[in-house]
Amino acid sequence: MNRPIRSFVLRQGRTTPAQQRALDGLLPVYGIPFPEKIQSKQPLVLEIGSGMGETTAEIARTHPEVDFVAVEVHGPGIGSLLNRIEKERLQNLRVVRHDAVEVLERMVVDASLAAVHLFFPDPWPKKRHHKRRLVQAPFVSLLEKKLKPGGVVHAATDWPDYALWIDAAFSGWEKASRGFVERPTTKFEARGRRLGHPIRDLYFRKR
Ligand SMILES: C[S@@+](CC[C@H](N)C(=O)[O-])C[C@H]1O[C@@H](n2cnc3c(N)ncnc32)[C@H](O)[C@@H]1O
Repeated sequence: MNRPIRSFVLRQGRTTPAQQRALDGLLPVYGIPFPEKIQSKQPLVLEIGSGMGETTAEIARTHPEVDFVAVEVHGPGIGSLLNRIEKERLQNLRVVRHDAVEVLERMVVDASLAAVHLFFPDPWPKKRHHKRRLVQAPFVSLLEKKLKPGGVVHAATDWPDYALWIDAAFSGWEKASRGFVERPTTKFEARGRRLGHPIRDLYFRKR
């Protein structure tokens, strides 16, 4: 069977009772089921790999004039983010629990995104795993199709080799000097800093 190479390996880890309750009770409320089309009346930002969602919720709280959709496959992370949305009564943040590549392909309308956030994607450091990196030529073409003209990709990584890789993958794009919104520190950024990794933000604008 010809299975696609995915950018993640699903290790569910431990799901706390609170996260499980959120997955059961709040995903039907704040989730967008695959493959429903994503609609928005405000500028729309898609975050890929929102992890535990602290940063995602913070950005949504500080930008009520923008709609955010967080895409993540990790159940406990989705559960935590759902609890934040409920607790903080965030009106402008929805989540999709599914592979972001398929979400882009099937749920995101062409030329509808103001920005894409890709904060600390899994770096897959071993050479034989590079094929699992999310940023690949077909993925970059997909982003181009889904962004509006002038739309921005904001990526961040603590892995210098992946930063170079991402830079090369977007070499045909215009470089931007900042993102659609400011990026607060993420959980993985904090981990990278503790390990002494250099942090790089990369911004590319669709022409
Ligand atoms: C290294 S973590 C970073 C999480 C968060 N952005 C942060 O900075 O703390 C990468 C996340 O991307 C998610 N991920 C990887 N590939 C994905 C895909 N194709 N679709 C959705 N999520 C994905 C993983 O489950 C993981 O939670």
